[in-house]
Amino acid sequence: MLPSKTHPTGILITALYGSISLAAAVGSTDSFDVLDYVDPLIGTANGGHVFPGATLPFGMAKAVADTVGENQAGFAYDTTVVTGFSHMHDSGTGGSPSLGNFPIFAQPSCPNDDINQCKWQLNDRAVVWKRDSAKARPGYFSISLANGVQAEMTTTNRSALYRFTFDGASSESLSPVVLVDLIDLPQSRTNGFADVDSSNGRLTGNGTFNPSFGIGSYDLHFCVDFKGAELRDTGVWTKNRANTTRKTVSLRADGTNSPDTLSAGTFARFHAPKDNTILARVGVSFMNVKQACANAEREQPNFDFDGTRSAAEDAWRKKLSVVSVDADGVSKDLQTVFWSGAYRSLISPQDYTGENPLWESDEPYYDSYYCIWDSYRSIHPLLTLVDPLSQSLMMRSLLDIYRHEGYLPDCRMSLCKGYTQGGSNADVLMADAYLKKVDGIDWDTAYEAVVKDAEVEPANWNVEGRGGLQSWKSLGYIPTDDYDPYGVGTHTRSISRTVEYAYNDFCIAEMAKGMGKQADYEKYTTRSGNWAHMFKEDQKSSINGADTNFTGFLQPRYTNGTWGYQDPIFCSPLLNFTSCYLNPSGHETYEGSSWLYTFYAPHDMGALIKTLGGAEQFTSRLEFLHESGLLYVGDEQAFLTVFQFHYSGRPALSAKYSHFYIPSQFNTTTAGIAGNDDSGAMGSFVMLSMMGLWPVPGQDVYLITPPYFKEVSIKNAVTGKTATIRNVNFDANYKSIFIQSAKLNGEAWSKNWLTHDFFTQGGVLELELGLTESKWGTQTEDLPPSLSNYHK
Ligand SMILES: *[C@@H]1O[C@H](CO)[C@@H](O)[C@H](O)[C@H]1NC(C)=O
Ligand SMILES: *[C@@H]1O[C@H](CO)[C@@H](O)[C@H](O)[C@H]1NC(C)=O
Ligand SMILES: *[C@@H]1O[C@H](CO)[C@@H](O)[C@H](O)[C@H]1NC(C)=O
Ligand SMILES: *[C@@H]1O[C@H](CO)[C@@H](O)[C@H](O)[C@H]1NC(C)=O
Ligand SMILES: *[C@@H]1O[C@H](CO)[C@@H](O)[C@H](O)[C@H]1NC(C)=O
Ligand SMILES: *[C@@H]1O[C@H](CO)[C@@H](O)[C@H](O)[C@H]1NC(C)=O
Ligand SMILES: *[C@@H]1O[C@H](CO)[C@@H](O)[C@H](O)[C@H]1NC(C)=O
Repeated sequence: MLPSKTHPTGILITALYGSISLAAAVGSTDSFDVLDYVDPLIGTANGGHVFPGATLPFGMAKAVADTVGENQAGFAYDTTVVTGFSHMHDSGTGGSPSLGNFPIFAQPSCPNDDINQCKWQLNDRAVVWKRDSAKARPGYFSISLANGVQAEMTTTNRSALYRFTFDGASSESLSPVVLVDLIDLPQSRTNGFADVDSSNGRLTGNGTFNPSFGIGSYDLHFCVDFKGAELRDTGVWTKNRANTTRKTVSLRADGTNSPDTLSAGTFARFHAPKDNTILARVGVSFMNVKQACANAEREQPNFDFDGTRSAAEDAWRKKLSVVSVDADGVSKDLQTVFWSGAYRSLISPQDYTGENPLWESDEPYYDSYYCIWDSYRSIHPLLTLVDPLSQSLMMRSLLDIYRHEGYLPDCRMSLCKGYTQGGSNADVLMADAYLKKVDGIDWDTAYEAVVKDAEVEPANWNVEGRGGLQSWKSLGYIPTDDYDPYGVGTHTRSISRTVEYAYNDFCIAEMAKGMGKQADYEKYTTRSGNWAHMFKEDQKSSINGADTNFTGFLQPRYTNGTWGYQDPIFCSPLLNFTSCYLNPSGHETYEGSSWLYTFYAPHDMGALIKTLGGAEQFTSRLEFLHESGLLYVGDEQAFLTVFQFHYSGRPALSAKYSHFYIPSQFNTTTAGIAGNDDSGAMGSFVMLSMMGLWPVPGQDVYLITPPYFKEVSIKNAVTGKTATIRNVNFDANYKSIFIQSAKLNGEAWSKNWLTHDFFTQGGVLELELGLTESKWGTQTEDLPPSLSNYHK
């Protein structure tokens, strides 16, 4: 809603967006425009790797300036030079830079009007960008360079439109050159080909590239057309030389002179444009050049920059309109944190339907599930709430990948298999969608796919399925010295893989139960208890020699049953934080400590709490995790631990720790997110936390905490019903954050959780807040579901 208190009816205005004419509201001076609260530059510095450029929701075309430095998503704020403008990116990823293929670059003129004195190759052409010029808004990005060029960009689903404005102040007379480079951000190209049509300046071409966090290669094609200036001449360039006679350039991996770092391409040179601007329209396609051109021609026949931009803005307003908040008293910054988080959650996976050359299918094809290990915990549960139609398409697309490639992915980008970080966590997505009755999914195939993960080890379990399945079935854990002749994969992470496989099996059990497969239900329920086989009950933990006084942690175990050792704080921020990545020396826990993974049994918190010494011990151990510096909220496994106090009957502490991290770790600065955004994982964490209902992924369970707003409403796109969560005694200073009592549709509600039908059926959850912890939600019968009971 409005940040100002002058507009108490703003919530109505917000709620109307999307259903009523948007145009009517836009431009009216006192109406709320959600886009004023989205800052795409948040998370672009300090390793956040957020993509701040122009894109549609889940769009394939993602245009931004590419900088030199930590440029995983093309542009990073903590950089100084720009080398080009490219049309496809991923957001928030942690691997090597993604995509960024076929950058174009504009220069006002060549010195002395000599084509060979222009700057061609990547490093030569780098130009300083002006610090205050970077402007980002959904559907739009703009930046000004020291060479007197302002570059603005906007996109449709599969094409980008650039508007280059030349300041005209240069001493040279204006004769702009626009080049395309066959390079990509990770410099992974093998083959490349470019051609320029000397009759109209159209630049087309293709290349073969590698994915940024996976195996194999992909082909991509482009098509650039210009408008706004008369064509002067065209040509090709390689390294720092250009030639106007030749019109094609061909780079081959087998050649000795075409390394993947070689900068080369084609160009078009123009006479001075009348209004100092040139428009460049770039179509992209994974299919062929013809389709790249057709995508651009269909989506933007008129090179209408303002029209394309405003269509993109409307698409974003509509996407965000399902959520409305009464933000009375809430700072503009905090509202911006919220809506920007929402925005970043809706960028990926990307809709490549009709752009998949790998197989023919009538099913949707989404890509950039980057990665499900990150996204299953918050992004997809959020999409199920705010965009169940897209969530359905994404799940169908995952199943189509299973049909054609044999396994569900754990990570996928650029039509390639990505690396699996832990379990087969698409199983969690399937169970989550099944329990929440996401529409349109072939559940028999979904069940077949998750059972295959659990039963059939793939030849290369680095990129799909699970490794060590023989041990999993016979020993009930992944031994640290696993002997596994059945498949190839990185033999690390025995602890984190064990707890994730256990939870994956629980998710299969839930589906089996719903489908009446009793024997499977029992089998996978039993296997879901495997986490306990790595619990070493006498394991102590100290920090700098001082005993933490908590005993019992997950520990590595050998095939023969004896225990190995990994310091329980190892791979926490307190000890060797960066020693647990996806490499052969990556240790037994992935991107986190045994301290953290010891809390991961979300299906059997009753058993876990007993194992850790009862509710009081569990609570103080969980508080210690948050208070001691052992936890980094920038890795996704941390999310659930913020809310797990619900299970020990202390929902007030979940609210407390939610505020402990927001806004201290999530703010409106360019460095304002913890860690990489991971395709919107951090964004969805803030949005869900601030809406006050934390979804336990893979279960039909939402843990109740008070929203950060007086009121939040979510409209379900399938049923048309609206669910409202209302704080009574709302305090925008967040002192009163403890639920005293709750009412669901007017009836007292003492459980500290609720189910998804609240969102599909609609209704009102009223939370009465107070300054101190109350008895609400604390009794055993109030606690969320658990396989084992909560009593001794
Ligand atoms: C872009 O693609 C989405 C589906 O991902 C579709 O709903 C939307 O209509 C498309 N937009 C345009 C302008 O074609
Ligand atoms: C790229 O284009 C050239 C010329 O049309 C063609 O020979 C080549 O096969 C294409 N490469 C790919 C990967 O499509
Ligand atoms: C440009 O290429 C043509 C054809 O390959 C060649 O004859 C000519 O010498 C080249 N010009 C320059 C300046 O390199
Ligand atoms: C652990 O217990 C000892 C003895 O009671 C105490 O001195 C020490 O401070 C405790 N350690 C922590 C981290 O609380
Ligand atoms: C179990 O295996 C480990 C690793 O090979 C070995 O160090 C240990 O001594 C073995 N324990 C027993 C009881 O054989
Ligand atoms: C832990 O970090 C220290 C200091 O960086 C390093 O010397 C040591 O090798 C690391 N230990 C392991 C097991 O990775
Ligand atoms: C903003 O968030 C970042 C990332 O979590 C954090 O390091 C920084 O301290 C925060 N800044 C403020 C002013 O809270």
